[in-house]
Amino acid sequence: MKYYELEPTRKYREIERRGLSAWNELHGEPGFDFSLRPFLDRVLPTLGFKTDRPSALEIGCGTGACCCFLAGQGFDVTGLDVAPKAIELARRFAADRGLNFTCEVADICRWNAPHPAFDLVVDGHCLECIVLDDDRQALFAAVRRTLRGDGYYVVGTTVWNPDRDYGDSHVDQNGIVSVPVANASDFEDARMIGGSWYLPNRRHLHPESLRDELNAAGFDVRCQSGGDLLCSLAR
Ligand SMILES: C[S@@+](CC[C@H](N)C(=O)[O-])C[C@H]1O[C@@H](n2cnc3c(N)ncnc32)[C@H](O)[C@@H]1O
Repeated sequence: MKYYELEPTRKYREIERRGLSAWNELHGEPGFDFSLRPFLDRVLPTLGFKTDRPSALEIGCGTGACCCFLAGQGFDVTGLDVAPKAIELARRFAADRGLNFTCEVADICRWNAPHPAFDLVVDGHCLECIVLDDDRQALFAAVRRTLRGDGYYVVGTTVWNPDRDYGDSHVDQNGIVSVPVANASDFEDARMIGGSWYLPNRRHLHPESLRDELNAAGFDVRCQSGGDLLCSLAR
């Protein structure tokens, strides 16, 4: 199993069991909402699309709050998530709202991305769960492949904050946050640190390093507010 499958498997079961509707609610933020929304509210009106119904892909769509938002804004939406329970809930919550969009179970790091298909790709806090360099490169390659030449890539990711309490996690100089894991043999990427087993869990980069990483991966960063970025393909 890949390290990024464990937490969502647990969390979406918990969301269903507690009758919640979105990941944000696990952190005490109420309602069917998503963290990237204020940034999207700000940048979407500034973007030009050639069609009245642009296509949008959300990577790591969870229970579909952002997909529903984008569908409500007139986008033809596709949501992907590695967690089957997330996709089951996203389909249910979309149907409850009378919205219709495509939701698929897929691992973005192994996804056979359709060649340029989307006017907008949105990543609402999936990138921070994709920790290891090779996996992040695979994610960026999928975005490069599937984004139209004149399309936009909006990323929201949690950045490094020296005041954050990382508890019993191990944090290294590359912003890799690893958490203790009991069943290490189930995971190809489990690593021994100081005599205990850990699993990569988050990548929290400095905003400047995040920008450098996106530039190196072939994107121009058009605007950045901490971990929220509006990008396009580098020309
Ligand atoms: C922090 S949650 C955010 C969910 C949703 N975007 C929101 O704002 O509510 C990150 C999401 O990324 C998904 N994810 C993690 N790794 C993934 C991968 N390799 N491929 C697709 N989705 C992934 C998780 O299952 C989870 O739903």
